[in-house]
Amino acid sequence: MNFALVTGAVINTGVAIVEKLAAEGLNVVFTGRDAAKVAAAEANYRTKFPDVSILGYAIDSHKEDGSFDEESVIRMFEALDEKDILLNAVVLNAAHQGLNQTFLESPLSEFLAVLNTNVTWNYCFAREAAKRMIPQGGGSITFINSNTAYRTIADRTSYITSKGGQLGLMRSLALDLGKYNIRVNAVLPGMIRTQRWIDNPGFYAKNPCRFTPLGDVAEGADVADAVWYFISAARNTTGAELVVDGGNTIQMFPNVPEDL
Ligand SMILES: NC(=O)c1ccc[n+]([C@@H]2O[C@H](COP(=O)([O-])OP(=O)(O)OC[C@H]3O[C@@H](n4cnc5c(N)ncnc54)[C@H](OP(=O)(O)O)[C@@H]3O)[C@@H](O)[C@H]2O)c1
Repeated sequence: MNFALVTGAVINTGVAIVEKLAAEGLNVVFTGRDAAKVAAAEANYRTKFPDVSILGYAIDSHKEDGSFDEESVIRMFEALDEKDILLNAVVLNAAHQGLNQTFLESPLSEFLAVLNTNVTWNYCFAREAAKRMIPQGGGSITFINSNTAYRTIADRTSYITSKGGQLGLMRSLALDLGKYNIRVNAVLPGMIRTQRWIDNPGFYAKNPCRFTPLGDVAEGADVADAVWYFISAARNTTGAELVVDGGNTIQMFPNVPEDL
């Protein structure tokens, strides 16, 4: 049976992506790190979308000792093979946010953990997915990147480096996998209204990133719509970057209302 795979989909944007794909009639495998949270999310999705198959999988980019975990990605794909799950769309949404790190003080291990999750782990997912898409005649791989790959923000060196690297990975895979009819693209959100936004209304009320030409930030559903475009309608598009940030990136200065 054909499925889409979405990583990091027990909270926030990943949930919006799973819900969009399921609403469009796709069966979905999703991941989270915590088995109990994955089970709860799986039950919610199944109740909400009874006409499609939804399967959750608990997986972390790192082992408990902090070392990178390539084997668990391989095991996960082998487990999907055993269930005869064929993946024709993969959405690499999970990310290590690299918060509370500073360039001068933070240990190198923290920088590497962010790069491992946002670049190396996605490399492993894309490789395992591509191996299976090739005999199926093709597929779609979409990275959820960030407009911070273009314009930097303070004290996020590891995250921003990882998102820049991820764009290089995306382009490289688009080139190498095109001959197999595997399309590889990226959605670049600006600020998304996640639970962090809801929990910190004072911070976000005056955050310059919300003063976009369109006057708002993205909802998870806006990101999900862009993902759906790449999966469903972009037959001749690969190596592309679709920015979903209300026009934030094209500004020299934030578009702050005069009455603020
Ligand atoms: N939020 C924004 O404003 C914003 C802006 C631009 C781009 N983005 C990008 O959009 C995507 C979604 O953002 P979001 O804010 O919705 O993400 P989020 O709330 O931080 O959730 C990220 C997901 O990634 C998983 N994850 C984190 N570290 C992991 C690790 N080491 N191994 C495996 N999974 C891991 C988390 O798992 P758990 O559920 O177990 O914690 C979670 O499900 C990300 O790629 C992010 O970089 C977000």
